[in-house]
Amino acid sequence: MKGILLAGGRGTRLYPLTKSTSKQLLPVYDKPMIYYPLSTLMLFGIREILVISTPHDLPHIKHLLGSGAQFGLSLSYAIQEQPEGIAQALVIGANFIGTDNVCLILGDNIFYMGEQYHQFLSAVHRDEGSKATIFAYHVSNPQRFGVIEFNEHLEAISIEEKPQNPKSNFVSVGLYFYPSDVVAKARTLKKSARGEYEITDLNNLYLQEQRLNVVPMRRGNAWLDAGTPDSLMDSSIFVQIIEKRQGLKIACLEEIAYYQGFISREQLQHLTQELSAGAYKDYLQKVLDDAHEIY
Ligand code: TTP
Repeated sequence: MKGILLAGGRGTRLYPLTKSTSKQLLPVYDKPMIYYPLSTLMLFGIREILVISTPHDLPHIKHLLGSGAQFGLSLSYAIQEQPEGIAQALVIGANFIGTDNVCLILGDNIFYMGEQYHQFLSAVHRDEGSKATIFAYHVSNPQRFGVIEFNEHLEAISIEEKPQNPKSNFVSVGLYFYPSDVVAKARTLKKSARGEYEITDLNNLYLQEQRLNVVPMRRGNAWLDAGTPDSLMDSSIFVQIIEKRQGLKIACLEEIAYYQGFISREQLQHLTQELSAGAYKDYLQKVLDDAHEIY
C-alpha cells in the first residue's frame, strides 16, 4: 500500500499565518503540523509516500522531510499547481500509485488513535484491493464537512458535502483508503459548483457500487483538523496536554519509525547523537533507554 499526503491548499482561513508559510509547516505544539498525518501513515505501516503541495510550499516541505530515509521511508514529491480539490491528488499521483492500493491523508488532519487502532488496521486490510475504506467521526458542527448517513446496520447510505441540513453528526475524516482503480474513477470527476474535484463525489462512486466501507471512529479517538485559528490552537493544546501528562510524544517520527521496525536501534542512536541538545534529543534518548515499547 502506498500513501499520498496532500499538503497544499490556500490556507485562507489561517491568513495571515499562511501568507508566507504553508499551513502544514505551522507548529502544532512542538512539531510541524505535517508530522501528524505523516505519523498516521506510518502507523498504518505505509512507507512509500508521495507528498503533494503548492509550487511555493513544496521546497520548504522537502527541506523538512528530505528523502524520508531517516524515518525508514521513501518520500517523493509532486506539485499541485492550483488547489483544485482533494480528489485531484489521486490524478496527480497516478503514476506513483500505478497498480497499488493507496491511502490518501490530508496534511492538516491530526489523528490520535485509541484502543480502536487495531480495529482500524484490520478494517483497512480486510477489503484491501476490492473496496474503499473511509472513517466517520462524530462532531458538533457537521455542516462544515462531508456528512455520512448510516442505516440501522451501521452501513453508510449517503454522503453529502457541506449540507445545510445534515442527516447526522457523523462526518468523513481526511483519511481514505482506495483500491488502485481510484485513479480511473478520479479522472471521471467533474468540478463542483465551488470549482473543486470533490473527494465526496469520489467516495459516492464507491458507495453507488456498494464498495465503500465506512468505519465509525468511536469517541475514544481524537480527530482534529488544524485549519482555523481556533482548531490550530485546540490541536496544540490537545497535544500539549497528552504529552505533558504522559511524558510520551504524539507523532514523534523517529520513535514511530523505530517501534514500527522501519529503522534499527543503531539508526535511532545515530539520529539521536546528531541532534543538538534539547528536549527532543532527551526524549529520543529515553526511547532508546526504555526496555520495552510502550504503545
Ligand atoms: P481545506 O482546509 O479544505 O482548504 P485549505 O487548506 O486551502 O484552507 P482554506 O479553506 O482555509 O483556504 O484543505 C484540507 C487539506 O487539504 C489541507 O491540508 C490542504 C489540502 N488541500 C490541498 O492540498 N489541495 C486542494 O486542492 C485542497 C482543496 C486541499
